[in-house]
Amino acid sequence: MKSFIPINENGLAMILARTCCRSFNPKKAINDQIIELILKAGQAAPSAKNRQPYYFLIIKNKLCLSKIAQASYIGRRRQFADWDRKKTEIMIKGNSYLNSNDAIILQAPVTIIAFRKSDLNYQEAQPNELNIKEEQSVANACYSMLLAAWSLGIGSAWLCSPLYIKDELKAILGKYGVKWQKNWQPRTMIPLGYPLRELTKPKRKSLEEIFQNIN
Ligand SMILES: Cc1cc2nc3c(=O)[nH]c(=O)nc-3n(C[C@H](O)[C@H](O)[C@H](O)COP(=O)(O)O)c2cc1C
Repeated sequence: MKSFIPINENGLAMILARTCCRSFNPKKAINDQIIELILKAGQAAPSAKNRQPYYFLIIKNKLCLSKIAQASYIGRRRQFADWDRKKTEIMIKGNSYLNSNDAIILQAPVTIIAFRKSDLNYQEAQPNELNIKEEQSVANACYSMLLAAWSLGIGSAWLCSPLYIKDELKAILGKYGVKWQKNWQPRTMIPLGYPLRELTKPKRKSLEEIFQNIN
């Protein structure tokens, strides 16, 4: 097997075009083989010392997702309670959880909740460094899944509300038979589904703003 496959123009175009999708066709399911491929892409991402400090829940149950969307709405409000009210309203969008960005998990046929799964046996001289590396490793895996989904024509998004609702998630998921582990820390949820409409990628900063050469 070839150990290195140079990226071709299509691969690069795919990376450049990927964008978050926030409206999904609720009628078009994603089959389990595709979900497996997406998970494999997550695993293929680099992780510090190859420890793969993550765990994923693949949720299709709409009642469960609706409870998570409601908890997210409340959690975001709680998290941003000290903020300027107007800013919070704009960010959370509207006065019902159904209008919030998090409610897209009700449209998407599948949502992945990504956890950081800390390696409790692993010690590092600087515990904070270990923290950072585990966070980076989880994010790498998630981005890899976003790219894989995109390459398969599947839209995805990154919703950070799990950061704010750890206790609620634990309670909700417990009702669906999930045995919460003490080393789990919810990090993001990733709805997956076929896009309902054409997507527009938000503009990026100019390249000049993000790099300099040192020759
Ligand atoms: C750490 C992180 C947190 C994010 N949180 C949210 C979120 O809570 N809700 C949301 O709609 N998008 C969220 N996003 C998606 C960003 O808004 C999006 O990636 C960014 O605007 C660039 O757009 P693009 O991904 O379509 O290129 C998040 C992305 C990252 C990496």
